[in-house]
Amino acid sequence: MKYFWLTLVIGIISLTGIFKRLVLNLDKNPPKITNAVHINEDRSLKNAFKNDFYIGVALNAAQIEGRDSISDHFIPHQFNSITPENIMKCEVIHPAWSVYHFELADKYVAYGIKNKMFIVGHTLIWHSQLSPFVKSIKTPDSLRLFMTNHIKTVVGRYAGKVNSWDVVNEALNEDGTLRKSIFLDELGKDYIQLAFELAAKSAPKAELYYNDYNIEQPAKRAGAIALIKKLKARGCRVDGVGIQAHWSINNLSLKEIENSIIEYAALGVKVSFTELDLTCLPNPWDLKGSDVNQQFDNNREMDPYPNGLPDSVQTRLADCYADLIKLFLKYKDKIERVTFWGVNDGESWLNNWPIHGRTNYPLLFDRNFNPKPAFNKVMALAD
Ligand code: G3I
Repeated sequence: MKYFWLTLVIGIISLTGIFKRLVLNLDKNPPKITNAVHINEDRSLKNAFKNDFYIGVALNAAQIEGRDSISDHFIPHQFNSITPENIMKCEVIHPAWSVYHFELADKYVAYGIKNKMFIVGHTLIWHSQLSPFVKSIKTPDSLRLFMTNHIKTVVGRYAGKVNSWDVVNEALNEDGTLRKSIFLDELGKDYIQLAFELAAKSAPKAELYYNDYNIEQPAKRAGAIALIKKLKARGCRVDGVGIQAHWSINNLSLKEIENSIIEYAALGVKVSFTELDLTCLPNPWDLKGSDVNQQFDNNREMDPYPNGLPDSVQTRLADCYADLIKLFLKYKDKIERVTFWGVNDGESWLNNWPIHGRTNYPLLFDRNFNPKPAFNKVMALAD
């Protein structure tokens, strides 16, 4: 009898487990890392390009907190610069007027220092991902006070530790005019100068960057050049321009990228490629840009490679990356940093933008951290 009850209890427990797994799918594991990650000193991007430019990567919260054990070894091995993908944005770091959440940012900066990396702060003044309290500010004086407090507190805390700040992010429209935002509405176009001046005061040694997407395209580039020229003419310190580099394997404008490097460098600023990734998926309605507020519905036509990238597309991706790095090497004296927007394909924001839940392949490492043909082709360009 004793064994009858024991068998019954064990049976119920295991049936519940199978039910949960098969029917409810409750304890589904995240995708498995199927292959061992080989960390080979000779196969590291940062070593391969150490005489050319920093090789950076955007970190998510799990990587910063060391919750991802593979990334823990992998990132410092491959990269020598880091950017926080989200945790220094206003809505995270400064959620209410006098509330700051520095826990993750402190860990991020400590991670960079521990691994002797070039640390980027991203981003101070951006119309997107603002905390609700900022969006409800109604007077120019209050908004100016917010900017002063925010920049003084955040930049000041990491002075001497963060090497480079994206001071103003995405302030331009595609035609090169200033984007409508709460900052432009309340403070007029000089809010950009104010941001750079405040940042310079709080971190005299950090580099100060203007960062935007599509500013390699002629009209927007002309707007960015006019903006930087004006700031500099007014005695404002601008050290660099960050071309985000969210591009596509279907229309990579190498000529415009080359012209941009030459024209920005001629202003006396450094050039960095700050958020590099190359989407391999179709672009709905020929959408241009990287405005995170644009979203579209998913369907099979828009998500053609859920089970892997066909060889022809893989080769195209590798060729595009090789063309880009070749170009960057040609102008290595003008380029400070090339930062990838994510460590591996599985972690890229492009799996969820502009359509949620697609399977994209925009980076050099696959979902198991294995180097892709693009990685091999890029590495072959190193000295
Ligand atoms: O962390 C929350 C989670 O708690 C919540 O349950 C979930 C539900 O949506 O959202 C999670 O936050 C998401 C966050 O990424 C962290 O994963 C936000 O919704 C999502 O909007 C956010 O997207 C980020 C986006 O900027 C907006 O801030 C992307 O990860 C990030 O890659 C992207 O990065 C931007 C650059 O900062 C500026 N240039 C363009 C670039 C790409 O859009």
